[in-house]
Amino acid sequence: MRILLAFGRTYPARTALMLISLFLAGLAEGVGLTTLLPLLSVALGDETHSEFSLEVIAILQMFGLAPTVVTMITVMVLGMIVSSALVLLGNRQVGYTVAHVATDLRVALIRALLGSRWEYYLRQPTGALANSVATEAFRASTAYEHAANALALFIQAMVYVVIALFVSWQAAVLSLILGVFLLLALQRLVKTSRHAGKSQTRLMRELLAHLTDTLGSVKPLKAMAREDIADSLLRHRADELNHAMEREVMSREALRALQGPMLATLAAGGLYAGLVVLKLPLSSVMVLIFLVVRILSLLHKAQQRYQRVASQESAYWALQKAIETAQADAEPGGGKRAPSLQDAIVFERVSFSYGDRPILDALDLTIPVGAFTSLVGPSGAGKTTLLDLLCVLLAPQSGSIRVDGVPLEELDRQRWRRLIGYVPQETLLLHDSILANVTLGDPALTVADAERALRQAGAWEFVEKSPEGMQTVVGERGGKLSGGQRQRIVIARALAHRPRLLILDEATSALDPESEAAICQTLKQLTPAITVVAVSHRPALIEVADQVWRLQEGRLVRIKGPRETCRRFGERAPIGPEGGAPTA
Ligand SMILES: Nc1ncnc2c1ncn2[C@@H]1O[C@H](COP(=O)(O)OP(=O)(O)OP(=O)(O)O)[C@@H](O)[C@H]1O
Ligand SMILES: [Mg+2]
Repeated sequence: MRILLAFGRTYPARTALMLISLFLAGLAEGVGLTTLLPLLSVALGDETHSEFSLEVIAILQMFGLAPTVVTMITVMVLGMIVSSALVLLGNRQVGYTVAHVATDLRVALIRALLGSRWEYYLRQPTGALANSVATEAFRASTAYEHAANALALFIQAMVYVVIALFVSWQAAVLSLILGVFLLLALQRLVKTSRHAGKSQTRLMRELLAHLTDTLGSVKPLKAMAREDIADSLLRHRADELNHAMEREVMSREALRALQGPMLATLAAGGLYAGLVVLKLPLSSVMVLIFLVVRILSLLHKAQQRYQRVASQESAYWALQKAIETAQADAEPGGGKRAPSLQDAIVFERVSFSYGDRPILDALDLTIPVGAFTSLVGPSGAGKTTLLDLLCVLLAPQSGSIRVDGVPLEELDRQRWRRLIGYVPQETLLLHDSILANVTLGDPALTVADAERALRQAGAWEFVEKSPEGMQTVVGERGGKLSGGQRQRIVIARALAHRPRLLILDEATSALDPESEAAICQTLKQLTPAITVVAVSHRPALIEVADQVWRLQEGRLVRIKGPRETCRRFGERAPIGPEGGAPTA
């Protein structure tokens, strides 16, 4: 029940209240039941009352109650009512906590992920994360529910053991021994459930990671008639998952099914021992049998709940581990200084490598504020990596990046990033309206901001023509729009919050030359109010640039700029990939 301890630490007040009410409920039920023995003695007309009956009768008389059948039945019913009310209170706590557990785990995971370092995030399969947020959080919360219930049932069983001790200590000890025997005999089934649960957790992650990847590339799969390969891979994983679920169901049902015959045998044995061997009065034997069977069935129910905990709790630990590893890989604190962006961003002898693979090698670059800087270079040269350094998504291993003389790591990272408008190389839109895609749900942005940004990005014309304008839903990943339209919406998104530094990574690659030239002119007009850094091979973005750098083998060479007379781009075709002519 490690899980209950873990939850107890996270929700101490709730857990304490739950435990106290469930304990009191057990106690109230126990008090009500103490009248059972004298009640039966009276009803069956026993001549000699057992010691316990006499004590109960004495206690009733102490409270001024005559030990009549009506009184005793009333005490019993009252005990049950109070017990039920307390159980309701306890279970309400459990229910509320279950909802909290699921929500808190989800929020913690999302927060930890969004706060993690970019390199860590890149290693995470998104499908597995979606699964953690949806399935694992739910399973973890049900594990808590079952654990709380198992504990409540166990407490109740112990209350019965105490009553049984008063009626006959031999019977109490016997029922405890039988109970332990019963639990141990069936423990194997709990173990099977635990294994099946662990397999489910692992398989579910794998299945969802694979499914998400497949769904992301359905179009080429269908176009090349390969969907059957994806289908059979997915089916194989789904079959394995099904197998694990079957094992869990089997062990759960076996545990349940074995309860009946085992309890009946024990009750029959007890009846025989009480009546024939010990020669106890019938009323005592009946009460004892009732108590023993009740204790055993409570323990058994507790075990059933425990079995559910065993099968579900792996989800909690897996989720907890995901949260902890993401937290351990959190972005470093960052500085406190406010960014200014008045003069220049300077890269000085910046080196960066992925593992032991060098990408940037003691690179120098000055990006004047207010200028339009373009970066070109062959595929895989490290252009996107350089932009990632600028956004502080990555940190250089050596050298420094300074903004107006202040090292990037000393700046307040969030404030620095808020100055940036970023257009990534891959245009992925949210399955939402154009408006939501531009504002990203930022309440500070108005419809007018979105319209302005869409106009600047050359998207207004087609947005205006769409049947529902900015409310048009773009489809999954923006699938209802053309590649160029998607790109323009992403550019608008980067412009909506009036950034001071606009970073474009192949932002116009899907546009026709005319639209591209028009957007480039608009972007150029944004300078000098906005500093633009654009990665592109396309002539239009290079034409409008104030300076153009070529990145190759980890170093930069200036091929167009104010302080150097360099050939105009295109005259001797120095810029295209692999040194070839630039692609238009
Ligand atoms: N997260 C990563 N881990 C390891 N290697 C990476 C990672 N991201 C990129 N790389 C490698 O680093 C190199 C530079 O990648 P980068 O994305 O910066 O290139 P690029 O110049 O933007 O190329 P392209 O023009 O094709 O977009 C590539 O060889 C790439 O394989
Ligand atoms: Mg790139």
